[in-house]
Amino acid sequence: MPLFFKKRKSAKPKPTKDDFWKDHASVPRGTGIELPSGPRRARFDTPEDWDPNSEYGEEILEEAQAPPRLPRPKEPRVFVVANQKGGVGKTTTAVNVAMGLALGGLNVLLIDNDPQGNATTALGIDHPSGTPGTYEVLVEGDAIIQHAQVSPHSPNLHVLPAVLDLAAAEMELAIQQGREARLKHAIEDYIDLSGVDYILIDCPPSLGMLTLNALVAATEILVPIQTEYYALEGVTALLNTIERVKGNLNDRLKLTNILLTMYDKRTNLSRDVAAEVRSHFPEETLSIEIPRSVRIAEAPSFGQTVLTYQPRSDGAAAYVRAAEEIADQVETKELS
Ligand SMILES: Nc1ncnc2c1ncn2[C@@H]1O[C@H](COP(=O)(O)OP(=O)(O)O)[C@@H](O)[C@H]1O
Ligand SMILES: [Mg+2]
Repeated sequence: MPLFFKKRKSAKPKPTKDDFWKDHASVPRGTGIELPSGPRRARFDTPEDWDPNSEYGEEILEEAQAPPRLPRPKEPRVFVVANQKGGVGKTTTAVNVAMGLALGGLNVLLIDNDPQGNATTALGIDHPSGTPGTYEVLVEGDAIIQHAQVSPHSPNLHVLPAVLDLAAAEMELAIQQGREARLKHAIEDYIDLSGVDYILIDCPPSLGMLTLNALVAATEILVPIQTEYYALEGVTALLNTIERVKGNLNDRLKLTNILLTMYDKRTNLSRDVAAEVRSHFPEETLSIEIPRSVRIAEAPSFGQTVLTYQPRSDGAAAYVRAAEEIADQVETKELS
């Protein structure tokens, strides 16, 4: 079978382990550094002064080394953000929850597993055609660490970028051995090398090899549900898929979180959908709903999440709350 895209050489030289630790200026597990009390300056107050290519400024290094405000999981948690329907807020949820966790001091990797590359854009990562990322990891067997980039908005947030070429991976993986477990192995290697706490995988709205790889690699599923139409049918399809993956490829996979998005408290429809989802999934549905918000929708065109773009907006507050609720589960829930 012909390959549609030529193999490319990586644009960047392979980093050494020293480079890695320099880039991942995060707190090694278990080292609590004493900091004076009082509020930490929020990173998102001055995103312009943050240049990921330079050495960290003193202040930023200090912040990166501050003990996390949110609790660290004992084992890294690997989430796939999935819903077979498009336009329900998967990418928006993936990037904003990832940023919420990172701003809470946790070490986060977002894997953009959608050829559209919208998550990469929203996290401020420049990704012209040819930028190495998820395609190289899945198809060429590169390590995640080779291509993950630091978001300009938080030193704790790393991004494995996607470009349109990733679409070819669907086809190319179909003819490769061990094709469903490619991402899983790459993630295991990354976890061994890094102090990562959370990995979030943003998926395309289809159930091809890309999403399958994510479902095999993840331990938890976060499902965004748009509260603007009766959405439970789509979720039933997703649950069937999860059961099949669980039975055959990944026993540990569990739907642990549902997030209601684009919620408009003024409409009966939003309230009805929310109530119905909550009654079916009382344990899994997060207590906060994400409001429909222009700020949330326009943030990606500035290469930002709403948390950095409009930190004081309702949308930002809701995503911060969602990230906190998810993080707090390590103390309140049996997760595995
Ligand atoms: N809470 C929200 N309020 C307003 N617009 C939103 C909200 N969440 C997502 N959107 C917008 O809806 C569209 C689809 O969201 P997206 O996250 O890209 O969905 P998916 O990844 O599931 O396709 C995007 O234009 C996004 O900006
Ligand atoms: Mg998307």
